[in-house]
Parts: sequence; C-alpha cells; structure tokens
Amino acid sequence: MKIEILDDHETLSQQAAGRIVGQVRAQPASVICCASGDTPRRMCRIVADEIARQHVDFGRVALIGLDEWLGIDPSNEGSCHYFFRNEVLHPWKLREDQIHLFDAFAHDPLVECRKMDQLIRERGGLDLMIVGIGMNGHIGFNEPGQPFDLYSHVADLDKTTRSVGQKYFKEKTVLTQGITLGLQHLLEAKEVILMASGSAKVDVVARALTGPVTEQMPASVLRRHANATVMLDKEAAARVL
Ligand code: PGA
Repeated sequence: MKIEILDDHETLSQQAAGRIVGQVRAQPASVICCASGDTPRRMCRIVADEIARQHVDFGRVALIGLDEWLGIDPSNEGSCHYFFRNEVLHPWKLREDQIHLFDAFAHDPLVECRKMDQLIRERGGLDLMIVGIGMNGHIGFNEPGQPFDLYSHVADLDKTTRSVGQKYFKEKTVLTQGITLGLQHLLEAKEVILMASGSAKVDVVARALTGPVTEQMPASVLRRHANATVMLDKEAAARVL
C-alpha cells in the first residue's frame, strides 16, 4: 500500500481523476467500481471535463456503483443512484448498459448481490476500485465488525453511518440497511484507490493506516492489498505524516 499526500481536495480530485482516465486510455474495456459521496464528487466532474478535453473513449467501460441505501428511491437526492446518474452516467456520456447499480428495491436483495458478484466475475474482475472512508472506517457499507472475506451483501448500518448519512438527504431519513460490494472484491481488485479529504477524517485515517489490521476497522484491509494507493489531502493526513 502506498500513501500519496496532496495539498488539498482539488489536487486530490485531479490526481484520482487522472488515474481513472489513464486506466481507460490503457485499457478501454476496464471494469471500474466507484464510490458515491462528497469525496469523489469533484473527481467525477474532472473526469467528465477530461473526457471532453482529451477525447477519451469511455464507450467500453463497465462502471459499477459501490453501494446503495436499501429502500431509498433512486429519485431521492441522497441515494447513490442519484449520484451516479448525475455525476457519472450523463457527464461521462456512458450508455445505460454500461452502468451497474444495486437496486434499492430488489425483491430479494441476496439475489441482487449474487447478480452483481456474477457480473464482476464474468467481466474478469475489477480493474480499478475507487473508494472513500466513512467516519467509522467503513468502505461502502462494509461496517466495523463485518468479515473481510465477503462479496456483495446486505449490511445493517451502524449508528455512525445512520447519523453521518443524513448529510446526503434534504429531510431526516430513516437509514437501516445498505447493499454493498464486499471487501473480498476490494482484495481481489487489480488496483484500489482510497481517497480521504478534510480534518474530520484525520483520526479515522490514522487508525486505518497505523492501527491494527482488524475487521473492527474495515479500511485497514487496504494494507493487505499489494496495489493500493491511499490518496489524502494534507488535512486528512495530519496524523500520518
Ligand atoms: P464521504 O463518504 O465521501 O461523503 O465523506 C465517505 C464514506 O462514507 O464512505
């Protein structure tokens, strides 16, 4: 695992966007998993600008959404669907058949999980996975205490996720479960980038990178990955410098 420290969120976003564009230039049919949330939003916009500026062909990319809140409508601004449609699908000019998102209303969420696992397997695995880190150390909805060796699964959201998650919603929203790729996907991805920005993440980043590798701190799993980069801005990196 490598650590890269960038000046600020803008530089961090440019760096991560450059990695996505570079990946697609090198391998046009890449399978890329991306997180939604505040951290990757700017990166997604820079990717859109670079696609237009450099005329990069994203027409063979498969884009996989990292997770979704179960039971939250795709039209809700706080849903991951809303993020991927507005920040990725349209701006990156992808076709509908190129983007694969968990259905928040799947009749059987476990079947939905197996479908996602199968899709990733059939495409030859994830080439690049870009994730963030939650205030409790989660990646996607891999909450503290869940095994590292899970593929897609349904997770009960912990207290921190249920309260921090309110920031994405206009109104107070009951959040109980999520559907997510598992950390086994991350361990098997050919390359992983974890982005963290801002002083609020300073403690959790330090614990993930310098504390024990444990299922109680999901992001610590990255230290078991041979091709992982943690991209931090200076504020988030203050306790790992
Ligand atoms: P954020 O979310 O990018 O909105 O901080 C990170 C996460 O919870 O994984």
